Amino acid sequence: MDTESALFYRQLPKVELHAHLNGSVSSETMDLLMKRKPHLNIERGMTAILREQRRSLDECFQVFKVIHQLVDSGEDILLVAKAVIQEFAADGVKYLELRSTPREVTETGLTKQIYIETVLEAIRQCKQEGVDIDVRHTGGISTCLNRFLVAVDRRHGPEVAMETVKLAEDFMLCSGGTVVGLDLSGDPTVGHGKTLLPALQKAKNCGLKLALHLSEVPSQRDESELLLNLPPDRIGHGTFLHPEVGGSDSLVDKVCKQNIPIEMCLTSNVIGQTVPSYDKHHFQYWYNRGHPCVLCTDDKGVFSTDLSQEYQLAASTFKLSAEDVWNLSQQAIGCTFAPEPIKQKLEKMWAELKQQILQ
Ligand code: IMP
Ligand code: ZN
Repeated sequence: MDTESALFYRQLPKVELHAHLNGSVSSETMDLLMKRKPHLNIERGMTAILREQRRSLDECFQVFKVIHQLVDSGEDILLVAKAVIQEFAADGVKYLELRSTPREVTETGLTKQIYIETVLEAIRQCKQEGVDIDVRHTGGISTCLNRFLVAVDRRHGPEVAMETVKLAEDFMLCSGGTVVGLDLSGDPTVGHGKTLLPALQKAKNCGLKLALHLSEVPSQRDESELLLNLPPDRIGHGTFLHPEVGGSDSLVDKVCKQNIPIEMCLTSNVIGQTVPSYDKHHFQYWYNRGHPCVLCTDDKGVFSTDLSQEYQLAASTFKLSAEDVWNLSQQAIGCTFAPEPIKQKLEKMWAELKQQILQ
């Protein structure tokens, strides 16, 4: 990246809506965790994939298993969650929706309840330490506003999904608005979404917003037909929805009629090889139709990226002007799960920063 345009993308105010906590841990934080747990014999190359490298989706999921060994206590979660929030803020992210799958680890006393409480504590501490939105300081230190989506790992099946929804509902009611939704993620080649429908429907009925990984691999066509009837509030990836890649007009119609925003993670999809190259990314298909597309990182630690780089990549690949890039980042505000007053604050912040950054 040349420095002048790198600065533009860094200064560009951004919204991050698709970031898995454990996939977002930076190499610096990983080094700390590795030092804490030398007996695991985990080295740098095992927790991150370089931009130039390519992996199968299965290999990408193996990386999460290694990271989970390193992050297995309340203390670890507090450390990584705070660091990740601070790093997004330093990258110019003004509003962040972090997602994570609550885990229990008997040896360390970690329960799913403690897991979520700890992420919320990290968010609270960051707010107290000033890593939060403040319209009076838009030109100053990076600021960030944080929300949390509780994640359901599809590999764990319908019963665990239902338990997770109940937990998410409890926290939605007592977290003062920080827990806003539910994510569906995990290895897309495992299980079928139809078994998870009751849990997802329950989540929706109780007021949780739904951000679902959808059509990440070609074999999910029937599943996507079903899940789109819920409908979700946002789609993660949606790589194989459109007919040119084996999806269907019916899927595209459902997405368009319901105007469901799609979270797009360029580097993640290219490294994981669900997309053959940047210029073949489905961003182009949806963006050209004027559909709401939100650029996101997915797993900035694992895929060695950050949100500024993702914007720059999209701009250079798809020949977006600075104005296009600005509009793309601004449009993401409308796709957040934040309440209306927060969206208005963000709009005001974007308006104030526009003259300064987009000369
Ligand atoms: P965590 O939920 O904070 O532990 O973040 C890592 C987890 O996020 C992984 O174990 C997966 O379940 C999920 N995840 C991360 N990236 C992807 C993706 O690209 N597709 C589906 N699931 C993902
Ligand atoms: Zn994801």
